[in-house]
Amino acid sequence: MTKVMLVTGAGQISMAIARRIGAGCKIILGDKNLANAEVIAKTLREAGFDVEALKMDLSDRQSIQNKIALGQSYGPIHYLVNGAGISPSQASIETVLKVDLYGTAILLEEVGKVIAKGGSGVTISSQSGFRMPALTADQDRFLATVDTEELLALDFLQSDQISDSLHAYQLAKRANEKRVMAEAVKWSQNGARLNAIAPGIIVTPLALDEFNGPSGDFYKNMLAKSPAGRPGTADEVANLAELLMSDRGAYITGSTMLIDGGATASYFYGPLQPEQK
Ligand SMILES: NC(=O)c1ccc[n+]([C@@H]2O[C@H](COP(=O)([O-])OP(=O)(O)OC[C@H]3O[C@@H](n4cnc5c(N)ncnc54)[C@H](O)[C@@H]3O)[C@@H](O)[C@H]2O)c1
Repeated sequence: MTKVMLVTGAGQISMAIARRIGAGCKIILGDKNLANAEVIAKTLREAGFDVEALKMDLSDRQSIQNKIALGQSYGPIHYLVNGAGISPSQASIETVLKVDLYGTAILLEEVGKVIAKGGSGVTISSQSGFRMPALTADQDRFLATVDTEELLALDFLQSDQISDSLHAYQLAKRANEKRVMAEAVKWSQNGARLNAIAPGIIVTPLALDEFNGPSGDFYKNMLAKSPAGRPGTADEVANLAELLMSDRGAYITGSTMLIDGGATASYFYGPLQPEQK
């Protein structure tokens, strides 16, 4: 029977993971921007993959359910790759929370209801979630377990509690980590696994724009003061995704894996520490 892979977000990271895992699968590639999905689907098709592109919105439950139903019309859902997201420079506090926090939570919930035995998923979080100071134990528990439809009503997620869209992004990525833990327990009831990957700076068209734009010096400084001394590639993220999603990662679930060239380590204990900037 055909295995189905659901991919959200038609970016470089999604494509690299789909190439690594998706041979022989029916790949359903959804993006809010259908043109993005069509471009990546064409590249993948021309490399021998079986891909259907569709317009979908990560922040809309019905849209996610439609995508799942389309996938199920081909066979059981075996894989989820969530590489859809919006960066802080692209959107308001509200939009970042709606897409990156709430949207990820409903996707993990809906796919968890139908994921096949032996299936696995990854959602792309960010190193940003590791930079924010610790939340309280109660806040972490709410992010992990509160009903998805009540998430955006949490008092500490109201816009007057959030300084800017970067802070919203950090909260969303922290929420991803907590949600993955709680959902991994639910996914296990279907015999499936779920993890998150938290990348540092990965070269994508968006990142290249940032390097060449007004924030270029900020990023160059970050890379120079990171142990790796360079940005990562989507293929390096796919190396990790392959481990997490294959049977070699059978003992890994509910985890968030940092892959940032050591930038977070340097931020806390090396030359990237804020007071030494
Ligand atoms: N590139 C990096 O340096 C980097 C670093 C850390 C984390 N990330 C995370 O990786 C993920 C993918 O990033 P990328 O660099 O590949 O970005 P990208 O912009 O190339 O791809 C993201 C895709 O998501 C789509 N999208 C946005 N909102 C959507 C929505 N509501 N519904 C469906 N699709 C939507 C966009 O149209 C875009 O095609 C994001 O979650 C991002 O936060 C990226």
